[in-house]
Amino acid sequence: MNTVLINEIETCFKEAFKTDPLLIFSPGRINIIGEHTDYNDGFVFPAAVDKGIVAAIQKTDADSSVAYAVNKDEKITFSLDKIKPSAEGRWENYVFGVIAEIQNRSKKLGNFNIAFGGDIPGGAGMSSSAALENSVVYGLNELFDLGLTKNEMIIISQKAEHNYVGVKCGIMDQYASMFGIENHALLLDCRTVESKPYEIDFKDHQLMLINTNVKHSLSDSAYNDRRSVCENIAELLGIKALRDATESDLETIKDQVSPVNYQKALFVIQENNRAVEASKAMEAGDLERLGQLIYQSHAGLQHQYKVSCEELDFLVEQAKLNNKVLGARMMGGGFGGCTINLVAKDEIEAFSEAASKAYQEKFNKACSVYFIELSDGTHII
Ligand code: GLA
Repeated sequence: MNTVLINEIETCFKEAFKTDPLLIFSPGRINIIGEHTDYNDGFVFPAAVDKGIVAAIQKTDADSSVAYAVNKDEKITFSLDKIKPSAEGRWENYVFGVIAEIQNRSKKLGNFNIAFGGDIPGGAGMSSSAALENSVVYGLNELFDLGLTKNEMIIISQKAEHNYVGVKCGIMDQYASMFGIENHALLLDCRTVESKPYEIDFKDHQLMLINTNVKHSLSDSAYNDRRSVCENIAELLGIKALRDATESDLETIKDQVSPVNYQKALFVIQENNRAVEASKAMEAGDLERLGQLIYQSHAGLQHQYKVSCEELDFLVEQAKLNNKVLGARMMGGGFGGCTINLVAKDEIEAFSEAASKAYQEKFNKACSVYFIELSDGTHII
């Protein structure tokens, strides 16, 4: 864990609020495969990482509460009985959303102060937002003895995102951040919200992330659009979610949907199958197969689901030039953020140098390479 960050957040809290806080770490996540399948009740394959949000939180006798975003050096004072969303895109909506969802469940909160900061850049596609939501709900649950289970907490985090941030996200990010297991990825069935842990040891290969350092606007509205396309097609098929459809089911309604939306639904069906296949490849230790599935996932996200972007596609092309990179794809919602790459350990340095140089030349800006450890979910430090 990032001890520098922990010390910084603790110190900032103490200076601002003159008392000792409860400290919480809530991780971001990667996703090996299974993208845009979660809100279709399908399978995803995420893991919590050793980067995320550190939150310091404590009750106060004051008649208002304070949230302090240390990275932004911004503090906001608010009343618990007047919680409402603030301007779009503002960080406090993650905090306010969680408070509102807790209050909706008739749980009683008292005033509190929270300071937080993180070591994943926003827009990296590593779910700093779910990490923040989970840290807030986890901390409040502890301080005010709310008696929430982890499953209830992640629903609160997800609803905060729906209702206060305006992104109709699935459950993958909040789940992975809350339930992560050190050195494991979780094959999560988003219908039952139950997962099977897989120990991740790729022997002479490893995962590495490359951040494009871009986040294109419109990503939130495009996300909600994709979700409603999927829901409409599921309705047309007379099923609960696309998870229940096969490719031949989809064929039967081909003339009732636009070609573009047909491809989107087809992508979801195929990506869901790929996530399950990936788990089998991992059980068999077949990394070549896993890599192929990862490349296929990207192709689908790029051409069928259309949530990639030029920068992500370029980095995946760079990976394909190197036969020691077994697979690469965009990760998360899309339109920017990171690629996830499955790379031979002895090639890591050469590949990251080559990709970084090519990216700089092409876009006249730097990408960032991250190495991650798989970590436990949200917990008290
Ligand atoms: C975002 C959402 C998730 C999931 C991914 C795409 O990260 O928050 O719920 O839908 O995009 O797989």
